[in-house]
Formats: sequence, C-alpha cells, structure tokens
Amino acid sequence: MTISNYTVLDDPPLYPPTVAPAQRTLSLPEFLYKLVRNPLRVTPDLAYQQPITVLGGKGGGRQYVWLAEPELIKTVLLDERAKFPKSSDIDERIFGPILGDGILTAKGADWRWQRQIVAPLFRSSELADYVPKMTTAAEDLLEDWRNRGSRMVQPIDRDMTKVTFAVIASTIMTADESFDTAPMEKAIDDYLAKISWEIAYGMLNVPNWLWHPAKRRMRVAQDTLRAAVTELVRAHRKDEAERDDLLARLMKARHPETDEPMPDALIIDNVLTFLAAGHETTAKALTWTIYLLARAPHWQERIAQEVKDVTRGAPIDGTHIDRLIQTQQVLKESMRLYPPVPLISRQSAGATELGGEKIKERAFVTVPIFSLHRHRKLWHDPDRFDPTRFAPEREKSINRYQYMPFGAGPRICIGASFAMMEATAILATLLRRARFEWVRGHAPEPISRVTLRPKGGMPLRVWVSSTPTTNWHSLSYRDPDAAGFDRNTT
Ligand code: HEM
Repeated sequence: MTISNYTVLDDPPLYPPTVAPAQRTLSLPEFLYKLVRNPLRVTPDLAYQQPITVLGGKGGGRQYVWLAEPELIKTVLLDERAKFPKSSDIDERIFGPILGDGILTAKGADWRWQRQIVAPLFRSSELADYVPKMTTAAEDLLEDWRNRGSRMVQPIDRDMTKVTFAVIASTIMTADESFDTAPMEKAIDDYLAKISWEIAYGMLNVPNWLWHPAKRRMRVAQDTLRAAVTELVRAHRKDEAERDDLLARLMKARHPETDEPMPDALIIDNVLTFLAAGHETTAKALTWTIYLLARAPHWQERIAQEVKDVTRGAPIDGTHIDRLIQTQQVLKESMRLYPPVPLISRQSAGATELGGEKIKERAFVTVPIFSLHRHRKLWHDPDRFDPTRFAPEREKSINRYQYMPFGAGPRICIGASFAMMEATAILATLLRRARFEWVRGHAPEPISRVTLRPKGGMPLRVWVSSTPTTNWHSLSYRDPDAAGFDRNTT
C-alpha cells in the first residue's frame, strides 16, 4: 500500500488493547463494582452498535442514556444544548471541589464571560510563539533520559505528565523557574486516581458527605492545589512585570455588567482549571501515541523520517508544525483509539425526547467518545490502528460528530489547537533523538479517570542517541552494539 511518498509496511495489523463492554444489563452491585474499577466497563455493548441506548428510569429511578449517532450528539451538544446543560450531579460533584466555578464548570452568562476573557490567548496566531517552550521541555526530558543511560525502561506516562505540566506552567502562567510544580503534579494525580468513587456516588445520588476510601486523599490534594495556586496568584500580583498571560488577563478582567474585577477565588478556580485540563489530557495523548509507535515501529520510522525531511535536521519551530502531516495523522488516530477524555456527560434539564426515546428530567446523557470512536457501524475495522484514516483526502469523509476528541459545540475544548501543536512539537522533538521499544507483553487496559489512563502505567524501553543525525535505519535501535548510544543498560 502506498500513501503519499512513503511505503507503508502494514503487517501484521495492530489491534491494541481495548475495554470489554457490558454484554448485558448489570445488577446494581455489578454496576458499582465495574464503575469504580473502570467506568468504561459499564458502557453497554449496544452503545458500540446503535444510535441511542437508554437504561434504567423505571419508577422514580435515574435514567442513563448513551449516544452514538452524530446527529443526536449534535442535538445535545449544539442544537438543543439548553436542554442538556453540564451535569450538576457529576461535573459539579467531581470537579467542583477542585475547579470551583471556573470556565470548565460554570454555566450560562458566568461561563460566557470567562470564555471571552481567555479566548484570545488560544488563537492560532498567538500559539506559534509557544513552540520553543514546548520543544525545550521535550529536550530537557531527552537529556534526563540520556543521563539515566540509553535503553532504559521509562515510565512514559509519568514522563509525559512532567513535560506537559512544564509546558502549561511556563506558557499559560509564565511561572518562573523557582516555582515548584512537583507537589501540584502529584496532587492532581492523587485527586484523579480515585475519582470514580465520586462518579459512582454522583450517578447513584449518594449524599456528598458520605465517606468513601478516597475521600481523605482527595481532600488533601484539593487543599494542596488551592494553597499552591493562591501563592502563585499572590506572587504575580506583587510582580510588576508587564505580562499578557492567562493570569494577567484574569486579573485585568472586568465583569461586563457590574464592571467589578474578577474575585481572587474565581481567578484561582481558573488557574487550577487550566493547569489541570491543560496538561493531563495532552500527556495522555502523547503516552498512548508513543505506546502505539512502539507497537508499530514502521510508523515510528515514518514519522522520524518525516521530521527529518521537514526540518532538515534543525530543531522544531512554529513553521514546521503544519507540515508534519503524518505525525498529526498518527496523533489523531491515537486519540481515536484512546481519546484522552473518554466520556463527556450532560444532564437533561427537563423531560424531553431524543432519537424517538422519552428522556426523563435529570437523566444522565453520556457522549461516550471512547465507544463512539470504535463504533462498529461508523468505522471500518474500528479496533485496528490505522493512521491512514486521517490522510488528508480520507479525513474529509469523517463526520464532525463522529470523531471528537476535543468535544463539540460551544463547550468545545478551548485548548484544542494548543494541544495539537504541543503534542506534535513534543513528539517530533523526541523522535529526532529517541526511539521507543515495546516491553513485550505489556498491553494496558485503558481506564477512565476523567482522562484515559493505562492500567499499570506505561513502561517502554527508550533508546536515546547523542545526536539527532543518527542513522537509525542502518544502526537499528534493536542492535545493542549500535553506535551513538550510551553503554549503560538496565
Ligand atoms: C489532547 C489534549 C486535550 C483533549 C483531548 C481535551 C479534551 C477536552 C474536551 C473533550 C473538552 C470538552 C468537555 C465537555 O464538553 O464536557 C475540553 C474542555 C476544555 N479544555 Fe481541553 N483537551 C485537551 C487539551 C487542553 C489544553 C491544552 C487546555 C488548555 C491549555 C485545555 C483546556 C480546556 C478547557 C478550559 C475546557 C473547558 C472549555 C469550556 O467549557 O468552555 N484542554 N477539553
């Protein structure tokens, strides 16, 4: 098979790990057990096949709805969005304690105001300036790997979190180097690790005060985060430097009706929102992409070759990003198989009708991005890794509401272009000097913890060359005596 200038060595086909859907209606204890372990396990098998699946709702019980038809998803996220606001029982419950009333959780006029204030920072024209900070973070990681010795097995999921956190802190917040980000990274991780307890309690209407095994850990994480960001805001207020970062914009903002400045509590909510939403998602996109490349070495080499061709050996800059076409194809296919945000939820404001089904008030309406991206009637060979689906001429036939890693409608991810640019810049920088090798047998289950995490982490063997000019084709990074590598091995 030939695509553009490259020959694709496409054998054997790759079917990377997935999650088995629920084959039948689950009893309440089964539902709870599966939900806490991995919310994707309660997605009914029907949601991979039919436009709308409605369960529950008998008597006074809660109704659960899964959508998998582009037109119905458009109805909920765009055309009739007032009938399906963000879920107060889920979104507010799980994000409220940490993100308060920031842009991700706010509704109506409160949300619109905040979105207008920050939108200019995310225009494509502004973003290219961030590329050097993105590549620097990736270069730092390469150096760190090299200092540990080439051919080491590395926790790629943790490494990607570190890199993307450094990027968000230095671009959006322009945090200075003395600002210690490690406790915040850990607190966000702790908060999300056991989040499905809150999701399960929210879905079952369990009161907020009731104990669960992760309650204390989440509260400590919450306090750590707020304290760190409060300090960051205080430091910015003292610093007279002229900035045009997110924090500066929030501080200068005036409410359109009252002309009041934004209260500090809301500024802190938003800083936390951008720190959390702006790194964990991109980290997961990169983690799964690198895993797929380790499983499909011919694609890894194609991308490395594309990077070489486009940059002619120079470091990645803003002018290269749009020309790294195959790199972006692989990222898009990776986010199809492993959408960093695997589930989007809404809640019906009143009784209504959707796709011929009667929907009750306060029904949970899920847009199951994970199963939508693997829907058996919408995709050919859905579980197969095939980046050629996103070749420019083929991508045009994909419905806007069939592939939506960044959501859709007015609440679409504000950082979508930022994230694509960042993931492309980081991946391309890493592949200039590194190769990734699968640790045989590691096939992690994708687990939903708001973002899509690999169960058991993502250990991969990393080969780092001292120079970007290494001829990987002739040296083969599987050859232990290959020149250009450190001799330290694990
Ligand atoms: C691959 C990376 C990313 C993915 C897959 C992703 C995905 C999403 C999705 C699906 C939503 C919509 C949720 C809903 O409708 O309920 C969303 C919202 C949001 N994202 Fe992202 N995101 C990514 C990166 C980023 C980055 C880099 C930033 C900031 C720099 C960011 C900031 C936000 C914010 C603030 C919202 C809320 C927008 C609003 O409600 O108006 N995201 N994201």
